[in-house]
Amino acid sequence: MSETATGAEATGTTAAGNNSFVVVANRLPVDMILEPDGTKSWQESPGGLVSALSPVLEKHQGCWVGWPGVADEAPEPFRTERGVLLHPVELTHYDYEEFYEGFSNATLWPLYHNLIVTPEFNRSWWDAYRDVNLRFATEVATVAAPNATVWVQDYQLQLVPGILRQIRPDLTIGFFLHIPFPPSEIYRQLPWRDEILRGLLDADLIGFHLEANVRNFVELCRAYDLEVSGEIKIREAGITITAANGHEIGVGVFPISIDTSAIAATLAANSHHEAHEELEQIHRDMGSPSTVFLGVDRLDYTKGILQRLLAFEELLDSGALDPSEVALVQLATPSRERIDSYRITRSKVEEAVGRINGRFAQIGRPVVHYQHRSVTKDVLLRYYRLADIMLVTPFRDGMNLVAKEFVATRADSSGALVLSEFAGAADELDQAHLCNPFDIEDIKKAMLQATWGLDDNPEAMKERMSAMYNQVIEHDVDLWANSFLGALDKSRP
Ligand code: ADP
Ligand code: G6P
Repeated sequence: MSETATGAEATGTTAAGNNSFVVVANRLPVDMILEPDGTKSWQESPGGLVSALSPVLEKHQGCWVGWPGVADEAPEPFRTERGVLLHPVELTHYDYEEFYEGFSNATLWPLYHNLIVTPEFNRSWWDAYRDVNLRFATEVATVAAPNATVWVQDYQLQLVPGILRQIRPDLTIGFFLHIPFPPSEIYRQLPWRDEILRGLLDADLIGFHLEANVRNFVELCRAYDLEVSGEIKIREAGITITAANGHEIGVGVFPISIDTSAIAATLAANSHHEAHEELEQIHRDMGSPSTVFLGVDRLDYTKGILQRLLAFEELLDSGALDPSEVALVQLATPSRERIDSYRITRSKVEEAVGRINGRFAQIGRPVVHYQHRSVTKDVLLRYYRLADIMLVTPFRDGMNLVAKEFVATRADSSGALVLSEFAGAADELDQAHLCNPFDIEDIKKAMLQATWGLDDNPEAMKERMSAMYNQVIEHDVDLWANSFLGALDKSRP
């Protein structure tokens, strides 16, 4: 979307000190796009954090402090047409390499995702992490009104609560972790474990997606001899931790979710005849397969994209699936493309796509349709509606909003979801065809059960989808944000 299209306009002024509700995340909800001729425009940023928080900020008309997605760029603060004040923070090329690609995504990301790849520990990355966290906290301190509520997001900014507590003790500070919190023995590998834990423990409330994350965090705090009281509660700060300085922090389970009413509104707007015809045309263009499998992910090694392709290949190979009857669509958003483990994953995925099509495609009729790019929300919803079976097979995932988005498009209870046991969403979507993504045989089994179930046992399949649909509709992103912010409000001194 361009600046004109979003209605975004530079105000030329900062909103220092006026904002009673401030969210700070590494990324703004929009990324700046710099064309070779110097023109600038904006497009929606990738990832679940932005998908979930955008509607929340629009509702609260808050201020969002974050990086505009391009190094060495610091546009003036501006308000979107939906009333959110965006306050950009500049990251230099050095910060991009050391803080973003380095400490955030080559140290913390693999560490917190249970060592799927080996984290790198590098002292200059840590220095950059500290510097950039200080910069974010300083920006927040200038825009936040006296006694404002500040909601700090995710692993890139774990030192921000601690810095803010020192420079703005009047603020009420919440922190939410969008990725898993690892078992204590993994977290404790981190050379800077004391500083990061201390930073977090200056928040008033810390939220995690799952009970398992809270258990890991509590165990870590106990290993530090901190006092822990209360019990784990869903959508409440059931646990209280007393930090070494006497500060009390609430800790709770707040499962993130999606904007179900926005999805319903888009589907309703596209329920006219032409939209149905368009969907049918895509299906015909694909050769009218009887079963369409779909994967939608950032291209990240945590997501298990290669494993689902290998499972699909083996099912074609063995004849369990007929290549003239099935197709797999894989949408893969480019992500963190210069980091080695991401390059390797992309190259293996693309090699598998090429090999599978080389083995099983007919002229004009690929069996795997692969798109390495982002699509608009409208187009994405169309793909969700096109699919018979959604494949969500991460090795580890904080929640996975894609699984919930797919389910939210199934008011008619059609289709099936194959879901990794290690996606946070599996806690709530237990009627999915659950699988262990480390076991190709188990992915194949779940894919076949879903395929056969749709043919042989449609009523039972509808019951499963209907249970998941109700779960998602009743637990949407509003509930997530309201429960977290309600619990944070109660923690005000
Ligand atoms: P993560 O936050 O790790 O990327 P999630 O599944 O929680 O994983 O969130 C991903 C978000 O990005 C979802 O809201 C999904 O709709 C969106 N998304 C993923 N792939 C694409 C794509 N190719 N085009 C557009 N949006 C995408
Ligand atoms: C996940 C993380 C977010 C991150 C997003 C996209 O959802 O939890 O913090 O913004 O991925 O990743 P990127 O590195 O492009 O910001």
